[in-house]
Amino acid sequence: MDSFTWRSESGEPAPSRLSPVDDRLTADAALKRVRRGEHLLYTGDFHNAKQLLGAMGRRLPPPRAARSPVEAFRAERRTRQLEHETLSRIVVALDRSYQLELKRAPEVAEACRQVWGEPDADRTVVSLKTLLGMLGAAEWRRKGLDVPGLQGKLHPHYGVYLPTRTDYVELLQHVTDVRGKKVFDVGTGTGVLSFLLLQRGAASVTATDIDSRAVACARENAERLGLSKRFEVMEGDLFPPGKADLIVSNPPWIPEPPKNRVDRAVFDEENRFLRGFLEGLAGHLNPGGEGLLLLSDLAVLLELRAADWLDQELARCGLAVKWKRSAAARHSKAKDKSDPLHAARSREVTTLYGLVPAPKATS
Ligand SMILES: C[S@@+](CC[C@H](N)C(=O)[O-])C[C@H]1O[C@@H](n2cnc3c(N)ncnc32)[C@H](O)[C@@H]1O
Repeated sequence: MDSFTWRSESGEPAPSRLSPVDDRLTADAALKRVRRGEHLLYTGDFHNAKQLLGAMGRRLPPPRAARSPVEAFRAERRTRQLEHETLSRIVVALDRSYQLELKRAPEVAEACRQVWGEPDADRTVVSLKTLLGMLGAAEWRRKGLDVPGLQGKLHPHYGVYLPTRTDYVELLQHVTDVRGKKVFDVGTGTGVLSFLLLQRGAASVTATDIDSRAVACARENAERLGLSKRFEVMEGDLFPPGKADLIVSNPPWIPEPPKNRVDRAVFDEENRFLRGFLEGLAGHLNPGGEGLLLLSDLAVLLELRAADWLDQELARCGLAVKWKRSAAARHSKAKDKSDPLHAARSREVTTLYGLVPAPKATS
């Protein structure tokens, strides 16, 4: 293939050479070749290509045995990364109208347009794994997602954090005093927390997100839900300018480096987001205002964060916990006994902290 546009979510460089393969390729042979560094351009049947990916995945080694929760976490992450790098070497080509050049191929053009915009090249090459993820996301976006307490469906976009965990969303229902409040939502994702608060009578929400996809997603969903007059969203780091009565945030909760764009919703290297949120909170609150921080304790259970870290940070930033409510994790991973991190995940608790500036000590 002469020239093509390469699409990668993890910023992998474009392959210098593509080796065409078809339905005759076995999973063992494919693994051998991709481990040698080849990118295999699948030209056979779409369903066979999917089966090949599955068969390759099943042949990959499981995470190494670990002696501590943090070792287990890092081993699991390395395994997932290796799986991603290996399987991403099975690639497919799309023509200039985003038609997939495989037999029995499904319609993928709409999913591609949603993520990349209009085609601008004769050929686009992408890993089959990424394309399948885009197709799944397009289906969620079309069907919409029910969220407890939300009137109307949420239509998530590709690459935006999906609120399929209901524990943290339900915790927000314990915030009683919302009516007429001016709200900030820091790291809004789909906008779900903003919409819940607006439907419960908040006067307005100004939201931020560092990722342009989240900003577009939240904006479109506000329109769909008829909330756009009271909802503003901007692309930016942490707080919007000004002050608010309530500042809500569900930050990324694992203090480890993100490996790709989507990871930034979950991984917060050296607690940069969380520290910045706590440091800036009091300065962005109107008098009598309150911060609403949602935080899982998984990082503590995995020994990635000390148990007293949050208390120390709150003291350092002059904040006090006015109230808190916790809920045990109920998502599917918390129940999956075959998950190498089951011991930690089954004990995971998410807490909603009501935070206020600490009263000044009198001498
Ligand atoms: C755990 S997700 C929560 C999304 C949404 N609030 C929810 O509860 O479903 C964290 C979000 O923070 C965003 N984010 C990460 N770093 C950020 C930063 N420095 N400033 C603003 N948003 C950020 C991510 O893109 C992601 O959408």
